[in-house]
Amino acid sequence: MPTPAALAEAAADRIVASARNAIRRRGRFVLALSGGSTPRLVYPLLCSPPRVGAVDWSRVAFFWGDERAVPPDHPDSNYGLARRLLLEQLPGVRPDAVHRMPADAPDRDAAAHRYEAELGRTTGVRPGSWERPRFDLIWLGMGPDGHTASLFPGASVLDKRRRWVVPATAPPTSAVRERMSFTLPVINAARQVLLVVAGADKAAAVRSVRAGSRDLPAARVRARSTLWLLDAAAAGKGVGE
Ligand code: 6PG
Repeated sequence: MPTPAALAEAAADRIVASARNAIRRRGRFVLALSGGSTPRLVYPLLCSPPRVGAVDWSRVAFFWGDERAVPPDHPDSNYGLARRLLLEQLPGVRPDAVHRMPADAPDRDAAAHRYEAELGRTTGVRPGSWERPRFDLIWLGMGPDGHTASLFPGASVLDKRRRWVVPATAPPTSAVRERMSFTLPVINAARQVLLVVAGADKAAAVRSVRAGSRDLPAARVRARSTLWLLDAAAAGKGVGE
């Protein structure tokens, strides 16, 4: 996509198409929202015509792929951003279908287990079993270091096989180090994964992923349908190319 704005339009179209398809086939859309700043460009597009009227938002279950250990009204809260720019603007969203990730709980591991149970109730899969919950769409971003959700390079949580949701820790350079995140098995069990990546600071990581490097967490995202949407800068091209 030539620009971040064009990238946001393409991402919004992909989310609406995925929602309509899931609702038509299964009567509902189980969605995990991304964290970070890129959703700030996409949320307003989902809340305005024509897209806002293209989806029955009362049939959507909202989860998060990761969260920072801050309260919901904190400026660094992924939930807080979505509530302000998306959930409070959409018609028909059911409060019981909004599942905030409780990363700010005092006992994050216990809270992660609770979120797994909530996910299990929504998807009809028992946590701890070998079966994985199936999202219709998991929307992710990628950081300059190749992290996705809150799965950072070299982190032991990258090798979790049975857990769906885990406490995680971001590098010292991050504003909020304490996190909670989906694991790779949950991400890779999704029907679709959408990676939306903007900015020149991501170009090196994109090149590594394209070169097949498995060191980067984002390179280990391999769901049945994994779509990368990049702006020109992240793709290493001049803006507008
Ligand atoms: C988070 C994210 C993280 C994010 C990337 C990209 O909570 O920080 O989930 O994985 O998606 O860091 O962030 P930007 O969209 O801000 O570039």
